Amino acid sequence: MYATRLSGRHLIEPGDFTLDEMDRLFTLAEEIEDDPVYLRESCRGKLLATLFFEPSTRTRLSFEAAMLRLGGNCLGFAEPSSSSAAKGESLADTIRTVACYTDAIVMRNPKEGAALLASRYAQVPVINAGDGGHHHPTQTLTDLMTIRQIWGAIGDFTVGFCGDLKFGRTVHSLAKALSRYPHIRMVFISPPELRVPAYIKTGILDKEAIEYQEVDCLEKVIGDLDVLYMTRVQRERFFNEEDYIRLKDSYILNMEKMKPARKTLIILHPLPRVNEIAPEVDIDSRASYFKQAQYGMYIRMALLASILGVLD
Ligand code: NCD
Repeated sequence: MYATRLSGRHLIEPGDFTLDEMDRLFTLAEEIEDDPVYLRESCRGKLLATLFFEPSTRTRLSFEAAMLRLGGNCLGFAEPSSSSAAKGESLADTIRTVACYTDAIVMRNPKEGAALLASRYAQVPVINAGDGGHHHPTQTLTDLMTIRQIWGAIGDFTVGFCGDLKFGRTVHSLAKALSRYPHIRMVFISPPELRVPAYIKTGILDKEAIEYQEVDCLEKVIGDLDVLYMTRVQRERFFNEEDYIRLKDSYILNMEKMKPARKTLIILHPLPRVNEIAPEVDIDSRASYFKQAQYGMYIRMALLASILGVLD
């Protein structure tokens, strides 16, 4: 059995694990992919809480599928209206309570910093499944695993992030994580209103001396990219609907726009997609977003088995 030595750890943002720790998770996830019954009973008797204060399909269901496939069980809620948050209970009290019943907590919350706060009150590991427009570290593990599988390594490539780079937490987490790997160039493609936040640029990219550029036009740069990370405009984080309507279809990737793209381009999207990728692209061999969704379950199996300490 492959020990990752992550027992009892929280995962709040991508910097919480070392590159070596993430590498061990990828290796374990690959072993699980090769042999889906590997670790089948490893989490028997363990209970995972999934607390989703915001909508989710992939993240919640892949965590629950992962836990069930490891032989464990899950409980929780998929919308806050069915929890005591609706009665005005504080997050700290909800977390203290749930930590009494379960062995680990996965939480998605609309407030930035909510997962960090939860980790301070929980006696069990807390995994951030998205805190507002801030971070989404398990999506990043999924993204990195997909790149590693297809590109062969994480390094020596140009990645384009396209769409809502202001509110898109998956972009913030992936850019932060990639800034720790060798020879990564980044191209940020967005309308001026949806540029990547200053704290990412000055606090991470400039600090790590990452080569990056900001552009408006996808067609002009698509031919330079090895990885294209498309994202949805995050309607729920806009202050007014007019701005959302004006910006929502800024980029729609279709086969016409793909003409200058490299044969080896890897197209990723954390999903859900709205209009950003035309369905005609789905059958192109470079479209990797459903593979990415599948890797999401394997990496979460590896993560849960690791933090629950069943491998050590
Ligand atoms: C993303 C999220 O929740 O940030 N979805 C996901 O977890 N795969 C992306 C999004 O909602 O646009």
